[in-house]
Amino acid sequence: MEKNNTALRIVSLGFESVRFRRSVFKDEAKLDINYVPGRLPHREKEHRLLMEFFDFLLHSPEKMTQRVIITGEVGTGKTALAQRFGADVVIEANKSGVKLRYAHVNCREYRGKLLLILHQAIAVFRQNFPKRGYSAEELLGTLMQILDEENTQLILTLDEFDTLIEREGSEAVYKLTRLQETRAGKPQRISLICILRDLKPTERLDVSAKSTLQRNVINLEKYSQQQLADILNDRIQLAFKPSTIAEDVVNMVAELAFSESGNARFAIELLWRAGKYADADGLGEVPPECLRKAVSSIMPTLRKSELASLGRHEKLFLLGAARIFKETQKAYVSLSEIEKAYTVICEEFEEQPHSHTQLWKHTQFFSALGILKTEVASTGKRGRSTRISLPSIPAVELEKELSALLEE
Ligand SMILES: Nc1ncnc2c1ncn2[C@@H]1O[C@H](COP(=O)(O)OP(=O)(O)OP(=O)(O)O)[C@@H](O)[C@H]1O
Ligand SMILES: [Mg+2]
Repeated sequence: MEKNNTALRIVSLGFESVRFRRSVFKDEAKLDINYVPGRLPHREKEHRLLMEFFDFLLHSPEKMTQRVIITGEVGTGKTALAQRFGADVVIEANKSGVKLRYAHVNCREYRGKLLLILHQAIAVFRQNFPKRGYSAEELLGTLMQILDEENTQLILTLDEFDTLIEREGSEAVYKLTRLQETRAGKPQRISLICILRDLKPTERLDVSAKSTLQRNVINLEKYSQQQLADILNDRIQLAFKPSTIAEDVVNMVAELAFSESGNARFAIELLWRAGKYADADGLGEVPPECLRKAVSSIMPTLRKSELASLGRHEKLFLLGAARIFKETQKAYVSLSEIEKAYTVICEEFEEQPHSHTQLWKHTQFFSALGILKTEVASTGKRGRSTRISLPSIPAVELEKELSALLEE
């Protein structure tokens, strides 16, 4: 019995180690949405600006407090920036002998309720503080008392701040921002960072609540395609084994995420999923096809009725594209490469191939449908050439569908 168990263990260990060896990941946790990287490429300027705004904490901490708003569209790094800054400023403060804590509360998680949000801030210091029985004023008083006792400064970040405004209105903002005024002469303790996608929700606040908030606004611009590629490359070094993802695949991810409003979260998630598909097939690297599988798993991209309504030569042409992407494993191909595959397919189906000009029109048509993506690249002296990618439909699936339709 004992012997059998050992044998079993050895077998399963052997399997595990094979799987482990083949994985494209070095450290998958680095792609987790809650992971905050040590540096944030293309947010250096905003990080420095935050350091400037809170510089007083390092020199004369009890004399003043600060309020900063961070805005930016989905996935522009607002949460990551605040958390990175929070960790860094605490280290700096410690170096200067100032006691500082950073607390990050997501208001949406607490349905925008001020009481729950304040409780969460207190829990940073007193884990078992009772959840019920206190008013917002009392909780703020308690928080202040704890900070006095510990002689500590606090930066409280209220992420998804719009949910608090929506739920509690100006009153809550007042309570938070006017905190110090009832404590004339005593040390100032609590600074705020408020995060929301845009300033529109603050329009609903009354004038004075608004004016106490909106002095320092840092707006995070949408990332460009190149910036997304830089962010991805940084993360790939942390999360993937060397040489498992080709540059073109990174570019494809960046291109896709750029068209999804420059969302870095989407980019990182695609990368992770593509890696998972590669591991499931034991490939040891991440080819473009795994990325297409990742995209189509997030958003359904292949509309079969759309393919069925295509003309015969459009189908033949797209089949040529599907084959060339499948066979070459390239992220980008030229029109002439697709044209060659198409010519072969025309022979197979005993059709006279369309002219180059017509194929160019098909390319434009599929690009408008979002099935193919075309991009004009400069090729040095020889001028410009068009590179074509199949961003979101797995080539294997496309080939299967089109072959079935053509054989009907
Ligand atoms: N400049 C950057 N460098 C490295 N990683 C980044 C950068 N910007 C964003 N990220 C990563 O992208 C993901 C999304 O970022 P984040 O959660 O900060 O976006 P957000 O602006 O808070 O979005 P939302 O409005 O949806 O809350 C996170 O995993 C984050 O680590
Ligand atoms: Mg966020």
